[in-house]
Amino acid sequence: MSEIGRDINKAVRFLKRGDLVGIPTETVYGLACNALDTDAVLKIFEVKNRPSFDPLIVHIPNIARLDKLVYDLPENAEILAAAFWPGPLTLLLQKQECIPDVVTSGLSSVAIRIPDHPMALELLKALDFPLAAPSANPFGYVSPTLAQHVEDQLGERIPYVLDGGPCRIGIESTIIGFHKGKTIIHRLGGMTLENIEDIVGPVEVSKQSTSRPSAPGMLESHYAPRQQVFLGSWVQYSDKLTPESVAMIRFKEPDPEFDMSRQMILSETGDLHEAAKNLFSTLRYFDKSSINYIIAELMPEKGLGRAINDRLRRAAATKSS
Ligand code: TXA
Ligand code: MG
Repeated sequence: MSEIGRDINKAVRFLKRGDLVGIPTETVYGLACNALDTDAVLKIFEVKNRPSFDPLIVHIPNIARLDKLVYDLPENAEILAAAFWPGPLTLLLQKQECIPDVVTSGLSSVAIRIPDHPMALELLKALDFPLAAPSANPFGYVSPTLAQHVEDQLGERIPYVLDGGPCRIGIESTIIGFHKGKTIIHRLGGMTLENIEDIVGPVEVSKQSTSRPSAPGMLESHYAPRQQVFLGSWVQYSDKLTPESVAMIRFKEPDPEFDMSRQMILSETGDLHEAAKNLFSTLRYFDKSSINYIIAELMPEKGLGRAINDRLRRAAATKSS
């Protein structure tokens, strides 16, 4: 079992000697190590059972630290960083040699973000190296939004989880890359498309999801709980599934055709922020139950609803494909 605590100095000690630590961020918990230490980074891939072609995000405490890690920024990268960092936004930038190839899976770009969480920032400031940190879940599974989630799945394999409370946003960061003058969203996430377009104008949202995607978070089968996930409402599945084997995830109102006691409402007030915050813990909750199927209602396709729907669609793609 790993220890769960709030001792930043302890986390610093583990990280300085090349160990892995679970860390809080505003999006989801990360599994962190010294990003400049190849051996430590290799441990991340091993502990997560993550394929080596899936690169990691590097976390820094402030923009000044970019100088030593990446080459000059595209104009829109500078604008977005100034507007939204610290925050749930990851930028793909041209890496300098000091970043080991294992971090980027051999790519010439590195994913970087400044997390908006006081404990994560304090930790990062106390270190003279950046932290590589993927979400702290086994590869392909739902991301953790509580320290206990990290402990539940990786507790046997890491010494310490820094407990920063429940993640404020609850869904992973938005990943943005820059190619031939274009600004491209590679993963929808905690920073909304609307917020981004307000600042830099229209951007492209990558539809790519192949076996060698540019961001394997874009793999079709990802973010999946144990159960088979279907999208829609009960009437669409009532002739195929027995009600006892099903639970439902709903946006703000229960499905009137289905047993109320097995429905989880993500936000009774219809608030997409609240829905995002509750999504992964709801999937985990059902995962521990005896039900076999989840029927999830899609959210309105706006704001954080886009990122939630993206995760639900990927979870639904997993076992049916
Ligand atoms: O909110 C988040 O982004 C969380 C917290 C811990 O920061 N981290 C996270 O990491 O979600 P992870 O590893 O679960 O997802 C990172 C995604 C992966 O899908 C990876 O393929 C993509 O970022 N990625 C990383 N570096 C990349 C690069 N150089 N080019 C393209 N995609 C990259
Ligand atoms: Mg992940």
